[in-house]
Amino acid sequence: MIKIAPSILAADFSKLGEEVLEVEKAGADWIHIDVMDGHFVPNISFGAAVMGAVRPLTKLPFDVHLMIENADRYIEDFAKAGADYITVHVEASPHLHRTIQLIRSFGVKPGVVLNPHTPVEAILPILEDIDLVLFMTVNPGFGGQKFIDSVLPKVEQLAKIIKDKGLDIDIEIDGGINEETIVDCAKAGANVFVAGSAIFGSADRAKALQSIKKAGQE
Ligand code: DX5
Ligand code: ZN
Repeated sequence: MIKIAPSILAADFSKLGEEVLEVEKAGADWIHIDVMDGHFVPNISFGAAVMGAVRPLTKLPFDVHLMIENADRYIEDFAKAGADYITVHVEASPHLHRTIQLIRSFGVKPGVVLNPHTPVEAILPILEDIDLVLFMTVNPGFGGQKFIDSVLPKVEQLAKIIKDKGLDIDIEIDGGINEETIVDCAKAGANVFVAGSAIFGSADRAKALQSIKKAGQE
């Protein structure tokens, strides 16, 4: 079964609570929370206080994608604000093993994110310590960018490694997902799909979400 995680980065921030409830009703499986610091990526989004404000509205898992430097300093804040998953970028985590243990110490499921150019080999030593791998199929920082399909062989490579080792790890794709691009990602072995503009940019969110999900399941 595949999961759809709408990214609230593309939502109307003036009515964030209603937006989350709308995609929950539309059949969202997780809520994707894009946190940007203006240093690791060239954009600033929102922090743990904003996420905490919408947390009581839904029971859906909150999937927190940290695009920030010094993630260790903020992990406790996001854990206390109700994160279910916290993913950190390999490229921004000089002490990745320590960061993963820190996330788990707060009872949150840890994951790692790979930018489009970062090889799968970078995470092999910590594969047994994580619950989730997130592949970026755009360069992080903004919603609404074009899907980079040269990432797909990396997804296939990791899916095979996970299968061969008998591990239980979700493979998530983030960036440019719509009802066309999801097809090859699902074939490559991914099972969780972030979609921002393709859902929140659509007049009928339920229809958009369901048609993306259906395309991924076929
Ligand atoms: C990009 C973010 C993505 C983004 C996805 O840095 O990590 O989650 O919001 O947006 P779309 O689906 O519009 O590419
Ligand atoms: Zn994201």
